[in-house]
Amino acid sequence: MQRAEVALEGVGLAYGAFWAVRFVDLTVRPGEFFSILGPSGCGKTTILRLVSGFVEPSEGVIRIDGRDVRGVGPAHRPTALVFQNLAQNLALFPSMRVWENVAFGLEVRGVVKAQRRRLAEELLELVALPGFAEKRIDELSGGQCQRVAIARALAVEPKVLLLDEPLSVLDLELRQHMRAELKAIQRRTGVTFVYITHDQGEAFTMSDRVAVMSQGRIEQVGTPTEIYDAPATAFVASFVGESNPLPGRVEGSAGGFARITTALGPLRARDPRGLAPGSAAILIVRPERCRLDEAGEGNGPADRLARAEDAPVNRIEGRLVRIDFEGAFANLGRSQPGRAHLESPGGERRPPLPARGRGPCGRTLPGRSGTRTPRGPARP
Ligand SMILES: Nc1ncnc2c1ncn2[C@@H]1O[C@H](COP(=O)(O)OP(=O)(O)OP(=O)(O)O)[C@@H](O)[C@H]1O
Ligand SMILES: [Mg+2]
Repeated sequence: MQRAEVALEGVGLAYGAFWAVRFVDLTVRPGEFFSILGPSGCGKTTILRLVSGFVEPSEGVIRIDGRDVRGVGPAHRPTALVFQNLAQNLALFPSMRVWENVAFGLEVRGVVKAQRRRLAEELLELVALPGFAEKRIDELSGGQCQRVAIARALAVEPKVLLLDEPLSVLDLELRQHMRAELKAIQRRTGVTFVYITHDQGEAFTMSDRVAVMSQGRIEQVGTPTEIYDAPATAFVASFVGESNPLPGRVEGSAGGFARITTALGPLRARDPRGLAPGSAAILIVRPERCRLDEAGEGNGPADRLARAEDAPVNRIEGRLVRIDFEGAFANLGRSQPGRAHLESPGGERRPPLPARGRGPCGRTLPGRSGTRTPRGPARP
């Protein structure tokens, strides 16, 4: 199959005085699995509707394979769209057989029946549904329906497949299974995928690159690792993964690290940009970078870590006042600075736990957390 590049240049869409998206600059490379990640209402579906031609931008240009697609309707763009809502919008015909659903777009294009059937069976093979051709849609599971919808979208040989939260209505296990399936389908077809989700795990496991959106704007585009390890804005840091944000002021910066004055005292943090002394900053602490030590030991895990890696280690002292057990991890609440010890409801001591959650957690923070300046002034 063919694949295409999709480029948005300064794209905006206004509903009256309200801009659903604005200043969107984005290039999706040919054959890339590209995800757009962001909270509800941030403009993800709007971008897919713009690319597929269901709405025209109020400003800016959209190019597919370098061609300005302004004025080109959805049927004439090399795109296909798989919708968000399984129940309402997959638009499969429940009483029709699976292969007829897959081949629906081909009939409209005048492909003869024998060829339609053969193509449908090839596509069902591709989406791991061999032998399903004769079944009716209402005999299938949710995940199987999703795959039929994807096969049908692929039947018209799009260069770009646009998927709007196609897994959101499936249960967790099926979602995880379908992530692997979708990735495999994308690899097998080589078609450019633009995938919308508000689920970070989904975006990260499948995508070559991810764009993070907030309030109609693109905040950052990067590989999953770049987004997670070097969030460009405070929004990205807080939306992606767990984080403990600590506002402060830069005292000085040297050797890629900044010293920041925070309400919890001076802390060191990674500072690749070399922030100017005196500037406001937000220090982000990823909970999985925290280690808990009992107070006054001086030979706990964090101390050993400091010696082993020659890494700067931040220490925050406090009293643990709460442990919310969630299974694989626990959220820890910390009170005023003071001597740290663990208090669990039963009164027994617990071994150090990986910590996450709101508020600084634990006593020591390895200095591999990042500093991020607050978002710049809004663009005009
Ligand atoms: N036809 C419309 N008229 C007016 N406002 C609209 C219209 N369609 C969308 N919007 C608004 O544009 C913004 C972006 O909507 P969009 O559907 O793109 O969000 P989304 O990121 O896909 O959200 P979700 O994750 O909930 O699907 C929202 O504030 C929404 O209310
Ligand atoms: Mg949406």
